[in-house]
Parts: sequence; structure tokens; C-alpha cells
Amino acid sequence: MFNKRSLYALMAIVFVAAMVLAACGPKATPTPTPVETTAPQVTPPPVTGASVGVILPTKNEPRWIQDETRFNDAFKAAGVEVQILFSDGDSAKEKANVESLISQGVKVIIICPHDATAAAAAAQEARDAGVKIVSYDRLIRDTEAVDYYVTFDSISVGEAQAQYLVDKATGTDNPLYLYAGAATDNNAFLFFEGAWNVLQPKIADGTFVIKNSSEAVALQDKATLTREEMSQIIGQVTTDWKFDVAKNLAEANLTAAPAADKGDVFILAPNDGTSRAIADVFAADADVTSYVVSGQDAEEPSVQYIIDGKQSMTVLKDVRTLVSDAIAAAVAFLEGGTPPETTTYNNGVIDVPAKPSVVVTVDQSNWQEALIDSGYYDIKEFTVP
Ligand code: BGC
Repeated sequence: MFNKRSLYALMAIVFVAAMVLAACGPKATPTPTPVETTAPQVTPPPVTGASVGVILPTKNEPRWIQDETRFNDAFKAAGVEVQILFSDGDSAKEKANVESLISQGVKVIIICPHDATAAAAAAQEARDAGVKIVSYDRLIRDTEAVDYYVTFDSISVGEAQAQYLVDKATGTDNPLYLYAGAATDNNAFLFFEGAWNVLQPKIADGTFVIKNSSEAVALQDKATLTREEMSQIIGQVTTDWKFDVAKNLAEANLTAAPAADKGDVFILAPNDGTSRAIADVFAADADVTSYVVSGQDAEEPSVQYIIDGKQSMTVLKDVRTLVSDAIAAAVAFLEGGTPPETTTYNNGVIDVPAKPSVVVTVDQSNWQEALIDSGYYDIKEFTVP
């Protein structure tokens, strides 16, 4: 099935996948950054012509630049050529990227869709061309043409964000401001579902009072929401994953809110970029005495915000794990096998085999241990008082 050159490449990828996986195991002891430290014994010949392509959604967020870096590290260490393309937040460009990779003869495309449903047509094109599709971080929806899904446990991301707010709240009637990701991203629903699981009982018992969403207030007695119900809320509090949308929405919310709805506030912000934007707005409001705000991704600017006390927490999703899972899945497909499935995610049409990874809550109390001692970041990137 393979020529010799491809087999060298594969062996190298398997090796790197194993290295990366080994380095991303439980963090009982600090793990050194993996790939560079243990080079393969036999260097495979350089491979021209990539058999795997990666497509990421945007360069506008540090999160996806980090994925690019980690992919490049892993593939470079293997001496394997990979094409990493960006879709610039545009489904048409994403489809053109898929078509370009197909025409170059790749066998597996690892893709993080910009828009879950719009990506279905491109995925189908890949399937028709005999190319395997690995949905990366975000699930492609409403198509059968998805072979595998590597992801973090996104419901537990939302639960971790909400739990942090709950743990910091005392008494009753605490003002709660809700924000969500883009409605075109399936993850935005999973994050919100997880957050609702934890927040709803605390809204029902009076700990929190929702201040910025009439749709959420209308549904606040329901422990479990349908996708349609979540859509209604997300439609009202979406940031569209954009900093400026998040900032404008937070400003509009605070302009509309009387001083009595401010004071010590609690903010569910869906990720780090929107968290920084929203936190800046709340910090600038004279009627906000204090705020607790969530995030996710452990982006470097947000780690600095946490060190500086401007963002309360983030959820670390170790991108090295996701990259190694994606590479392992690609290798399994290239070898004619199937990657390990620990669960499935329904994408509206099929149950997609998947392997979700665990996430870690990070705040001022553990950022050094979780992010520096683990080798995820270099302390030199941060200004520590
Ligand atoms: C990812 C997050 C990211 C967000 C915005 C989500 O699908 O899971 O890590 O912050 O998209 O890009």
C-alpha cells in the first residue's frame, strides 16, 4: 500500500506521536518538553510531498498559532513534510484549502472547521477523493464524511469555568453575566451546556441572578436545555469568538445595567481572548467593585492577565496532547487501521468516533506548576512581580 519513503515517514510520525503522548501523560511529576529532548535514533530521509495536511481556522487568535507551532514541532522532529493552511475565518477559503490538499495527493486532512456546518461540503469532497477527515478540536456537523474527532472534553471545560464562579461566590443575589462562543462552532454549545449544568442549580437556589440575558432568565428553571434553547441564549450573548464583539457586547450590557446590578460580579466568559476583552470593560466600570471572570486556552496574554490579577482563571487544554492524538489518528488511517475510540459525538447525522482529552483549571494558585513546571511555557515569556 505504501512506498518505502512513505513508510519511513510513517515510522517517524509514529515515533513522534509516541514521544508527544509520553510527554503529555499525567502530571504527577513535571514533564519536560518532549520532542526536542529525545531525537529519533535513525533519522529518516527527508520526505517531499506531504501525506497529511492540517487546516486551522484563523491566525487572529493566539490559540491557533500555538496549534500551528506544536504541529510544526512534531512533524519537523519526524522529518516529515506537512502543509499547514489557515482559513482566515472564511469557509470559502477553507474549502479551497481542502481542495488544494486533495489535489496535492494528501491521504489525511486534519481540519478545525471555521463553521461546523459549512465545512460539511468540503469534508464530503475529501471523502469522495478517498481522503480521511480528522475533525480537530471542533466537530464538523451535518455530514457522514467525518472519520474521527480529536478533541478536549468541551463539556468539562464549561463545567470547570462555571465551577470556578460557584466556588468564589458567597451569599445570594450575586450578579451573573453570561457570554458564549460563536453559534457556528459546535464547541460553543458544549461549553455552554457544561456551564449550565453547574450554574443552573445555583441560579435556582438564588446564589446567582442573571443580568444580561432575558432568554437565559426565561429558561433558568430548566436543568437541561435543548440545542434550540441554547441557541436562543447563545444568540443573545454570543461573542462570535471575536474580541471586538465581546467588548461591544459587554459595554452594551453595562450601559444597560443599573449600578445595583454591578458591585461584585461574576462573568462566564467562554475563552481567553473574549475574557480579556470583557474583563477590561468590567474593570473600567466605576460601579463594578470586583469581578470573577472565566476563560480557556491558557493563552500567553491571559496567563499574564492571571498573574496580574486581571483574569481570574483559564482552562488549560494541552495542545501537545491534541496534536499527538491527531497525528496518531492520521498514522492509523495511513496504515489502513482505525484510531482508538473512547466515546462518540453526534454531529447531527452520525456518531463520530472520538477521543476527548482532560482539561485543567488554572489560576493564580497553580499557574507555575501547571504551565511552567510542566514545560508547557517558558517562564521568560511572563513578567512576574
Ligand atoms: C476552541 C477554543 C477556542 C475557540 C475560539 C473553540 O472551538 O475549542 O479553544 O478558544 O474555539 O477560537
